[in-house]
Amino acid sequence: MDPSFRESDLRDILDLWNEPLVQQSLAIDNVVPRSLKFAEQIREWSSNPCGIYVIITLKDTDEFMGTCNIWMNGVKNCDSFLTVALLPKFWNKGYGTESTRFVVDRAFRWLGLHRVSLGVFESNKGAFASFKKIGFVVEGIKRKANWSDGKWEDIIDMSMLEEDWATLYWKKNLITLHFK
Ligand SMILES: CC(C)(COP(=O)(O)OP(=O)(O)OC[C@H]1O[C@@H](n2cnc3c(N)ncnc32)[C@H](O)[C@@H]1OP(=O)(O)O)[C@@H](O)C(=O)NCCC(=O)NCCS
Repeated sequence: MDPSFRESDLRDILDLWNEPLVQQSLAIDNVVPRSLKFAEQIREWSSNPCGIYVIITLKDTDEFMGTCNIWMNGVKNCDSFLTVALLPKFWNKGYGTESTRFVVDRAFRWLGLHRVSLGVFESNKGAFASFKKIGFVVEGIKRKANWSDGKWEDIIDMSMLEEDWATLYWKKNLITLHFK
């Protein structure tokens, strides 16, 4: 994983968003081709000092795999919102879980956040399984809040608290940082 954002990553991130399977798992608005204008939005997100924007690459070849991000959700409560996305060819091989663990660990241990929140669509079984495996807890259901593939589905709100993380990983020293 490469936690530094390079200008050349913008094209890869735009291509990631333009994978229909990826975009429909992430976006609550219409699934449409994203243009270079959207790339400017990505540039803004990636340079937000109140968050982490990680580019996930294959260790051996440096091939672009996806991104994992955390944004602060207001300063007072030290809450944040997480998204993660990989190109479909990398799904179900453990990479998403590994990347999310890395970023959440950074959020608690290095940014001093108190909560990491996320939302996952009911139909997104792989993402839900990954977040459960990491230790995220379901804290609410937004009923029939997303229109997808001809039907309404729930949005499942999940979260991790810093004390959950400490118990699950930190105290056991299960996460280490790897920089290239
Ligand atoms: C979410 C995402 C990053 C997960 O990454 P990943 O590398 O596929 O996840 P992992 O391989 O670590 O774990 C996926 C788990 O889901 C399980 N799974 C996959 N499809 C499933 C299904 N239909 N039903 C139940 N479990 C399923 C896998 O078996 C695996 O569990 P296991 O390791 O216990 O076998 C990836 O699927 C992705 O990029 N999706 C598109 C974007 C997205 O949905 N983002 C999440 C919203 S924020």
